[in-house]
Amino acid sequence: MLPDEMEQRREIEARMRAKARTWGYREVTTPTFEELELFTIRSGEGIIDEMYVFEDKGGRSLALRPELTAPVLRTFVNEGRSLTKPIKWCYFADCYRYERPQKGRYRQFWQFGIELIGADSAMADAEVMMVADELLRAAGVTFVMKIGHLSFMRTLLKDLPAEDQKKVRSFLDKRDTDAASVFLSETGRENLAAPLQQLISARTLDEVFAVIGEIPEADRIRETFRILDSQGIQYEINPAIARGLDYYTGVVFECFAEGLGAENQILGGGAYRLAHLFGGEDTPSVGFAIGFDRVMVALGEKIWMPFQPQVTVVFTPEARDRAVAVSRELRGRGIICSIDLMGRGFSAQMKNAGKSADYVVIIGEEEVRSGMATLKNMKGGEQQTLSLDDVITSLTAQ
Ligand code: HAM
Repeated sequence: MLPDEMEQRREIEARMRAKARTWGYREVTTPTFEELELFTIRSGEGIIDEMYVFEDKGGRSLALRPELTAPVLRTFVNEGRSLTKPIKWCYFADCYRYERPQKGRYRQFWQFGIELIGADSAMADAEVMMVADELLRAAGVTFVMKIGHLSFMRTLLKDLPAEDQKKVRSFLDKRDTDAASVFLSETGRENLAAPLQQLISARTLDEVFAVIGEIPEADRIRETFRILDSQGIQYEINPAIARGLDYYTGVVFECFAEGLGAENQILGGGAYRLAHLFGGEDTPSVGFAIGFDRVMVALGEKIWMPFQPQVTVVFTPEARDRAVAVSRELRGRGIICSIDLMGRGFSAQMKNAGKSADYVVIIGEEEVRSGMATLKNMKGGEQQTLSLDDVITSLTAQ
């Protein structure tokens, strides 16, 4: 990634970090690779096929992390067990999946995510979805949030063997509802095909419960949506949200951006349990990860970047040392400043600055003698000889 792109990415990343911090989520880092088992234990076959797996010199099976939830929960079990719950962590890191690359689907991609560990309540579920909403809004992306709950499908499909339930879920995760119906018919459960379609098209909790009946989690689910409604969060109920990873246990949600084509899912998350699989206590958790690269594709050219003037210090040969000192002083005040490194003469420096600089600070013999500096606006052409303090004041006032 070249500087223009990196600057835009850093801007959006900074907005997400700042927002997450205001909710009390603090950043953690985990290693780029983990023992393979960490991911095979519960993340689901989809992800296993997509992993970069290798053996190290000691014969250990390792994998480049395909996601951060399992590593973060392992870190919680190893290092964070004595911390006061709930634990609120966030991360921004690269992940690796062996996929066929296409627009919005890469083999190395970045996720910004949060994990709320040790809270099991409607408030916890709602908070994580509110953070998701706020982070995407801070990035400036237009999106729809779709929320489901694994109990919806589980209840409908409860008489199917676990393997078949998984199969239906994986069709739904690929948004292939027809294939899910065909599968049910082919395996002799055509009686479920119609309720499945009804459930998939349900858009209110009343419609959902009309298909599957009242379930024990109903009150908690209603409460979660009431909290979201009270805060004006926009969402769509969608019982077909199945998630590709196998560790989810409760509420699940995904966000979709406009204008991205097939790879328009920019965020995925939900409630899950993993800590007990890594040697810890059974700990309810909820979190999400944003596909950062997809957000950047969705934003396209729409990113507003704060203007910072680019300054070049131009000097005559005898004023060089003073010019270097001036450039360092400007940088010390946070001004982006360059100076000739190519041995160019004064007019070649000016010509070159005309291509890239918004302002030029001229240091010649006269300026060395007077201790002043000449500030030239390269757009308007006007110039003024000022004290260095006044040069800095006018540049930082931009
Ligand atoms: P995920 O849905 O597998 O969930 O990934 C989260 C997001 O990462 C996706 O919504 C998508 O935007 C992005 N993503 C996935 N694969 C690629 C790819 N090959 N190229 C570009 N972007 C991609 C998880 O990873 C869970 N760990 C989320 C979570 C956190 N659940 C609970 N806590």
